[in-house]
Amino acid sequence: MRKNIVAGNWKMNKTLQEGVALATELKTLLAGKQPNCEVIIGTPFIHLATVAELLKDSVIKVSAENCADKPSGAYTGEVSAAMVASTGATYCIIGHSERRTYYGETYEILREKVQLALANGLKPIFCIGEVKEEREANKQNEVVKAQLEGSVFNLSAEEFGKIVLAYEPVWAIGTGLTATPEQAQEIHAYIRGLVAEKYGKQVADDCTILYGGSCNAKNAAGLFANPDIDGGLIGGASLKAEDFNAIINAF
Ligand code: PGA
Repeated sequence: MRKNIVAGNWKMNKTLQEGVALATELKTLLAGKQPNCEVIIGTPFIHLATVAELLKDSVIKVSAENCADKPSGAYTGEVSAAMVASTGATYCIIGHSERRTYYGETYEILREKVQLALANGLKPIFCIGEVKEEREANKQNEVVKAQLEGSVFNLSAEEFGKIVLAYEPVWAIGTGLTATPEQAQEIHAYIRGLVAEKYGKQVADDCTILYGGSCNAKNAAGLFANPDIDGGLIGGASLKAEDFNAIINAF
């Protein structure tokens, strides 16, 4: 079933103590509430176990921001999907544009990560989206299509049913330039159409597609009101509990 989701992506922010404080604040704000969406926070690896333990009796779920493209072994500094799952995290962001751009993550690497996340019981939040030049050249549709074909359209329908997609135009991430609700709805509908072509209408109807890129308390409601926008992946505005809570309340 399609879910509404508001997911935070802390990126490389917050020490462990600061992260615990933020998670605690959010837990308090949501205590006794049943938000109209699933709430997830994506934290750096080192926070996962502590934050997952802290939130185990709350409505908030925990996500990693990445995982390794290898199952285990001599890969110094890497963290496997099995390790992420062992912390109590249940989601894993994969293919964020910052990973693709700064860490050279290719379609093939991301395909491995998605498979490993699924094999370890994690739900991938798979990110796609075009850069500014591609949008200016009106190439956004072909870009997202290639990203889906390159890394997730190899999945069976059952496996694909476990992933969440996040459309994040790279030109909108951390820039204050949000896609307009019309721009976002248009490409979300296109993405859902691609999923329908590949896996059929039911899988497409059930697929959660988040918007990310300078989504905040002011613009969230306008974005989430669209039929194909099922929530947000939130960077900057997830670093303050009140801002993040206001986005949750946009549903
Ligand atoms: P932003 O980041 O909300 O700070 O633009 C979104 C993201 O990169 O997931």
